[in-house]
Amino acid sequence: MPDFVGSVDQGTTSTRFMVFDHGGNVIAAHQLEHEQILPRAGWVEHNPVEIWERTSSVIQTALGKSGLVSSDLAALGITNQRETTVVWNRRTGRPYYNAIVWQDTRTDRIASALEADGHGETIRHKAGLPPATYFSGGKIQWILDNVDGVRAAAESGEALFGNTDSWLLWHLTGGVSGGAHVTDVTNASRTMLMNLETLDWDDELLALFGIPRQMLPTIVPSSSPEPYGVTLAGGPLGGEVPLTGALGDQQAATVGQVCFAPGEAKNTYGTGNFMLINTGTDIVRSKSGLLTTVAYKLGDADAVYALEGSIAVTGSAVQWLRDQLGIISGAAQSETLARQVPDNGGVYFVPAFSGLFAPYWRSDARGAIVGLSRFNNNAHVARATLEAICYQSRDVVDAMEADSGVHLEVLKVDGGITANDLCMKIQADVLGVDVVKPVVAETTALGSAYAAGLAVGFWKNTDELRKNWLEDKRWQPSWSEEQREAGHAQWRKAVERTLDWVDVG
Ligand SMILES: Nc1ncnc2c1ncn2[C@@H]1O[C@H](COP(=O)(O)OP(=O)(O)OP(=O)(O)O)[C@@H](O)[C@H]1O
Ligand SMILES: [Mg+2]
Repeated sequence: MPDFVGSVDQGTTSTRFMVFDHGGNVIAAHQLEHEQILPRAGWVEHNPVEIWERTSSVIQTALGKSGLVSSDLAALGITNQRETTVVWNRRTGRPYYNAIVWQDTRTDRIASALEADGHGETIRHKAGLPPATYFSGGKIQWILDNVDGVRAAAESGEALFGNTDSWLLWHLTGGVSGGAHVTDVTNASRTMLMNLETLDWDDELLALFGIPRQMLPTIVPSSSPEPYGVTLAGGPLGGEVPLTGALGDQQAATVGQVCFAPGEAKNTYGTGNFMLINTGTDIVRSKSGLLTTVAYKLGDADAVYALEGSIAVTGSAVQWLRDQLGIISGAAQSETLARQVPDNGGVYFVPAFSGLFAPYWRSDARGAIVGLSRFNNNAHVARATLEAICYQSRDVVDAMEADSGVHLEVLKVDGGITANDLCMKIQADVLGVDVVKPVVAETTALGSAYAAGLAVGFWKNTDELRKNWLEDKRWQPSWSEEQREAGHAQWRKAVERTLDWVDVG
């Protein structure tokens, strides 16, 4: 058995390739960003060809830097930004349109019409999701309705849909020369098209969006002893490696954080924040604005489900301070700037750039900075940005406790923002519980490596993976209960101010 497992992490802002050893340590890594295409307000696209090129490039560079070759890898896993929608031609390999990114709100009328026409309950019950711009179904419909020739090509089986996992798996396994057209069950659970009980595409849901079944990938387990396919000698790995693991990025982080028992939860702080709590083999339907989603399915074992609180804008608000306001020059400076003031000075920032996701699900909301007085400055805005990350997570934790009945004792965190000590300290204060971070904070890539490695026996079972989780850092709350509740009450008032801003009827 080779000594390592590889993982492709195709994220919203960048693509990484990482190689892990048996202890879950990072042996090789490379990362490249790709362009964020913003054609008009609310629209967010990526170029799928650029994403495939970046993927090839990070694989080759990481292997080259570390002197590894394909035969050093026991298996390859893949993880990806979920919901982002690619439609391409099976004969030419060319996309019909740019990838429509999960943050894109152009389908707001599609989503609100589903609700207005009384289909909301069906979608919530079958797919576990509320009708929203976030998910793939409406994005596929938009491409079918707006790009010339795609509907006919989809009906004839020539046009293929995939999230970026499918797009890359297809390329890695041969592309136009017979590449595998598959998606894992966790990605499929984010389309509004899969039935959570049957784990198959659902004809009633497909009909609501007018999507032909033949354009959809085959749904496969997240960890599969029978490989989805094998990489090609002529491809970026330069040899054959079995592809045996695939998970959406947030489900991968759940696996990377070894949340294998019901009640175990993690919160990932990246472009957005995504908290998932394992609910075991039970499909728990939320009454508090959370999503029901598949956490993972390992081989033939029953699927394990999760409740998820998705927050669209957290790290991207920090990027907005840098790129649009220009008040910081890098993400880490959000901390030094915020530390110049002892508190938020009354300022609250609700970054509802794509409307509000969990637990509100309001596509009519837009961002607001409230509570300003002459006294306030950049530092208060920076502090309010970090607090917004934490208050949005507080809203999700409250919803999770209400739905699951599980009282959170400690919050496991990962992702880029966890480098921000002040933000993590505020998170502990806002929640009133300890916040802990593992040594290997690249839990997304790690989780898909775990899925791939479990399939080939590189790791024997999930107990073996638990031993790899080691605590790196812990933040403890120091706010009083009054301070915590007063702050949260102000936050809730700020959220009210953002609602009913744009007309999506
Ligand atoms: N020290 C910091 N303080 C605050 N925010 C930070 C800090 N360092 C990074 N970030 C934010 O974290 C985000 C990047 O996190 P991470 O690398 O986990 O995301 P990602 O996995 O690349 O996102 P995606 O997968 O969506 O592309 C960026 O939005 C960045 O603004
Ligand atoms: Mg990521």
